[in-house]
Amino acid sequence: MGTKAGAWRKQLLLFTSAVLCSLALGKGTVYTSEPEVRVAENNPAKLPCTYSGFSNPRVEWKFVQGTTTSLVCYNSKITVPPSKPTVNIPSSATIGNRVVLSCSEQDGSPPSEYTWFKDGMLMPTDPKNNRAFINSSYTLNQKSGELVFDPLSAFDTGEYSCQAQNGFGTPVMSNAVRMEAVELNVGGIVAAVLVTLILLGVLIAGIWFAYSRGYFDRTKKGTSSKKVIYSQPTARSDGEFKQTSSFLV
Ligand SMILES: *[C@@H]1O[C@H](CO)[C@@H](O)[C@H](O)[C@H]1NC(C)=O
Repeated sequence: MGTKAGAWRKQLLLFTSAVLCSLALGKGTVYTSEPEVRVAENNPAKLPCTYSGFSNPRVEWKFVQGTTTSLVCYNSKITVPPSKPTVNIPSSATIGNRVVLSCSEQDGSPPSEYTWFKDGMLMPTDPKNNRAFINSSYTLNQKSGELVFDPLSAFDTGEYSCQAQNGFGTPVMSNAVRMEAVELNVGGIVAAVLVTLILLGVLIAGIWFAYSRGYFDRTKKGTSSKKVIYSQPTARSDGEFKQTSSFLV
């Protein structure tokens, strides 16, 4: 009798755990009619998927590439993680000027938002909020990715990078680029102006020299060479010029 009761208890235990298990796991099934879809590049692809038995379903599509898995569809919305953003940062910029740094990437869906870093430190939206940036005047646009210094100050020299994130996948960091805030180079400007003036002087002198040697006259006569044959090359007085004309008539 004792063994019989024991066996029954065992069966009950198995039965109860089986019911609990199926309750916990749910009886839902997911299946696809086409497990392998092949489509030529740049063509639309349809990935069919059907499910049943879920009381409160939420459909997610995931893209598995090597060891990384990314969410591509969540709540019927396509989501693609951002790609590495490209930055446009001048290597040097003049203090006192308005300087625009930009950062963008095209793959993020929904569109990425951007944050900027200076020397690895997160830049606050308002520079007045952080002592490290108190001497800077800039504005940040998280949506467009633009960082505008207006005006640029000597304190803004540093290594800048930006980060794109859209809430899916991991945030992606751009390359870091060093920007040097430099004083207006007065010496350089003076030198450039002097060189330009000297070149201009040389050019004018050259033209004047060519003109005084009659270079331009000769090239004109060259086009009507018959006149040259009848004219006397050294004759320059009015009387002789008339004579030359009469020869031609
Ligand atoms: C800001 O400017 C003041 C005055 O020129 C200077 O003493 C201070 O070190 C600067 N702060 C930073 C973070 O560069």
